[in-house]
Amino acid sequence: MATVKEKLLLEINPGREAGIASKVTVVGVGKVGMACAFSILQANIADCVTLIDMMGDKVQGEVMDLQHGSLFLKTPKITAAKEYLETANSKLCVITAGVRQRVGESRLDLVHRNVEVFKQIIPQLVQHSPEAILLVVSNPVDILTYVAWKLSGFPQHRVIGSGTNLDSARFRFLLAEKLQMSPSSVHGYIIGEHGDSSVAVWSGANVAGIELQSLNPDLKRGQDTEGWLEIHQKVVESAYEVIRLKGYTSWAIGLSVSHLAQSILKNLKNVQPISTLVKGLHGIKEEVFLSLPCVLGSAGVCGVINQPLKELEVQQLKHSAQTLWDLQKNLTL
Ligand SMILES: NC(=O)c1ccc[n+]([C@@H]2O[C@H](COP(=O)([O-])OP(=O)(O)OC[C@H]3O[C@@H](n4cnc5c(N)ncnc54)[C@H](O)[C@@H]3O)[C@@H](O)[C@H]2O)c1
Repeated sequence: MATVKEKLLLEINPGREAGIASKVTVVGVGKVGMACAFSILQANIADCVTLIDMMGDKVQGEVMDLQHGSLFLKTPKITAAKEYLETANSKLCVITAGVRQRVGESRLDLVHRNVEVFKQIIPQLVQHSPEAILLVVSNPVDILTYVAWKLSGFPQHRVIGSGTNLDSARFRFLLAEKLQMSPSSVHGYIIGEHGDSSVAVWSGANVAGIELQSLNPDLKRGQDTEGWLEIHQKVVESAYEVIRLKGYTSWAIGLSVSHLAQSILKNLKNVQPISTLVKGLHGIKEEVFLSLPCVLGSAGVCGVINQPLKELEVQQLKHSAQTLWDLQKNLTL
C-alpha cells in the first residue's frame, strides 16, 4: 500500500536534488560557536550549517534546538556530529573550539592548551574539505591562525582569523556613541593583534570623509582634552569587562563572524580588518598573522589595503609582531 507521502506527492526527478553550494561548519558549540552559528543562520547565507564538538550530547542538544526553529529560518539543512565526515565539502569552517579566558587571564595565556586542540581539529577539517576557507576565532586568534595555516598546508589567502574585526566594531560603536550617530557612519580601524597590543589608526578615523584629527589639533599631537584617545583603551578592556560581568563574550563576536561569512559566501569583497599573514608588510619581518584591512571574497583574502600609517603606528604594529613571534617561535607543530 502506498505511504502517505507517496499518496500526497508525485515526485519529479527523485533523488536528483541539487548539491550543497554554501556549507558552513562551526567547530565548537560553546558560547562563541553557538553565537556564530545563530548569527550565520539569521543572515540566510548558508544552505547547510554543520556543528561539531567533542561533547556529543551537547552538540546534539544544540542542533535539535536549532532544527526546531527551522520554520523561522532559511537554511534548509542543519546537522551536527562528533565526527568530521559530517563536515565534508564545507565552503567555510569557523573554528571556535578550545578554552576561553578566565577572569584575569590574557588571550595569550591560552596558547598552549588551544594549540593542542587545533592539532586534533585542523587535519580532520582539511581531509574532508580540502578547498575550504578556515576562519579562526579561538584565542589567541592571531597565533592560532598561524597554527591553522601551518597545520593545514592551505595557501595563505584561505586561512584567516576574525582578528580585529570585533575590536574595530567596538571602536566604531564607542566613537558613534560619543558622536550620537550610527556606527555604520563612523569609520575607523583597529589593526594589529586582537588583544592587548592592538593599534588604533586615529589618522584614518572619520565621518563622511572628515578626519576627526583634522578637527582637533590636540588629537593629532596625541594629547586629548575631549576623551577621544581613551576610547582605544576601552576597546582593549572591553572583553575583560564583559568577561568580568557575564563570564564570557559571545553576541558581538557571533555577529562579527557572520559579517565575515557573508563576505566570503556572497563574494562581497568587503574591506574588513582580519588576521592575515603580514610578513613583508609595513616592514614586518616575522612570519606572523595580524589584522590589516583586507578585501574579503569567495577566494578568501583577495588583497590587503595599503594603509598609510604614521611612524608611531608602524612601531606599534612591529611591537605586536614581535610579541606574537616570541610566543610562536617556541611552538612545536
Ligand atoms: N576572536 C575573538 O574575538 C573571540 C571572542 C570571544 C571568544 N573567543 C575565543 O573563542 C573560544 C571559545 O570560547 P567559548 O566562550 O565559546 O568557550 P566554551 O568553553 O563555551 O566552548 C568551547 C567549546 O569547544 C569545545 N572543544 C574543546 N576542545 C575541542 C576539540 N578538540 N574538538 C571539538 N570541540 C572542542 C568544547 O567542548 C566547548 O563546547 C575561546 O578560545 C575564546 O577565547 C574569541
